[in-house]
Amino acid sequence: MAQLWGGRFAKGNDRLVEEFHSSLSFDRRLYRQDIRGSIAHARMLGRVGVITEEEAGQIIAGLAVILADIKTGRVEFSPEVEDIHSLVEQELIKKIGILGKKLHTGRSRNDQVALDVRMYLKEEIRKVQDLLQELRLTLLDLAEQHVDTVMPGYTHLQRAQPVTYAHHLLAYFEMFGRDRERLEDCYRRTDIMPLGAGALAGTVFPLDRESVARELGFARISENSMDAVASRDFAIEFCAAASIIMMHLSRFCEEIILWSTAEFAFIEVDDAYATGSSIMPQKKNPDMAELTRGKAGRVFGDLQALLTLMKGLPLAYNKDMQEDKEALFDAVDTVKKCLLVFEPMVRTIRVRPDRMARAVRGGFTNATDLADYLVRKDMPFREAHEIVGRAVIYCIENDKDLEALTLDEFHGFSPAIREDVYAAISIENSLAVRRVYGGPAPEAVRQAIARARRTLAEE
Ligand code: ARG
Repeated sequence: MAQLWGGRFAKGNDRLVEEFHSSLSFDRRLYRQDIRGSIAHARMLGRVGVITEEEAGQIIAGLAVILADIKTGRVEFSPEVEDIHSLVEQELIKKIGILGKKLHTGRSRNDQVALDVRMYLKEEIRKVQDLLQELRLTLLDLAEQHVDTVMPGYTHLQRAQPVTYAHHLLAYFEMFGRDRERLEDCYRRTDIMPLGAGALAGTVFPLDRESVARELGFARISENSMDAVASRDFAIEFCAAASIIMMHLSRFCEEIILWSTAEFAFIEVDDAYATGSSIMPQKKNPDMAELTRGKAGRVFGDLQALLTLMKGLPLAYNKDMQEDKEALFDAVDTVKKCLLVFEPMVRTIRVRPDRMARAVRGGFTNATDLADYLVRKDMPFREAHEIVGRAVIYCIENDKDLEALTLDEFHGFSPAIREDVYAAISIENSLAVRRVYGGPAPEAVRQAIARARRTLAEE
């Protein structure tokens, strides 16, 4: 098959080469962007008089038909075609004849592919952001129901201090909020229109780049023709943002997996998001959470692939860069799929407040409260810490919780301890007094939810 650049060559490529360098199998997903970009380019060429308005009209009409034909499966994607740009141009020439050959005036596939990928990524960033917002809304709804669902907070995976399920969920609300912002940043740097850069050194034709940017919905045009065709940091940035989203999802999944064990039994994943075992009839496995945790590795890999791809490339375009697309597409597809499954999986989790409460009571999570109590009786904190530490050892040896100690036993550790200690170290109180802004007290969490709802509405 004839290549776009056949003139310089006396014979065609080896068959193996044709297949080896074709990107059509994966860049075909850019056909809408490619055609929209070409329509804007042709319209502008007509407007500035590089071609006649009449010619532009015919090219645009031809491109519109090709778009419809591809959508309805009437265009053959033959593996000998080099890429989506070649395919569309070839179809255009088939449709409108020799005039189709004018479309590429003042343009190169180098600025064309940069345009297509930017248009594609802008759309996808918005979709990922929407999925994040849906998830955040779900987290708020769940948090609202669990403001009083006490559970242990952990450090080193050892029981630390009481928190609530709501507070724990709101931690992720914040993480996914920053993820959304990171994508917003990435969007701004993706929203730059590269056409006019040509192969690398611009063009001799008087292109009206601004009008093309306007028609295609870009905020800005690129400043430097070499940068415009040689840079993929916008795609790398997306993969970095996607990696961070996946890292957050993966941590949450790890907790879901852990909490679903019989040892924790804090939650039960809904049947719709779990699977069984082919041999062990009793099994119910949190596979979707595990898969999501696993897929984080894929997306990190996509980021590494792009960084490694770009690190040694001299300016400007190099064919290596064709390899950017599969990694980027994979990151986009994976993060979207994971968010799509994760949201309903979390929404339908059955929470077991009884199990959570039991774990809070069993682990000396009120030890800090006893120390704080002694501080309020005017003891220096370090000393209080030491005394409570000894009380904990005593409790472990006697198989008791702190709140089960008698006043006499307490006096063995400090004479400052009075009857009011029991109220002070109750789990309810321990939580209720953590009213600091951003703290887990139900009152503070209710305010946090109200703030979060306002933020979400403004975003
Ligand atoms: N298929 C190519 C890519 O994805 C398009 C640009 C090709 N440009 C070139 N001069 N070979 O990067």
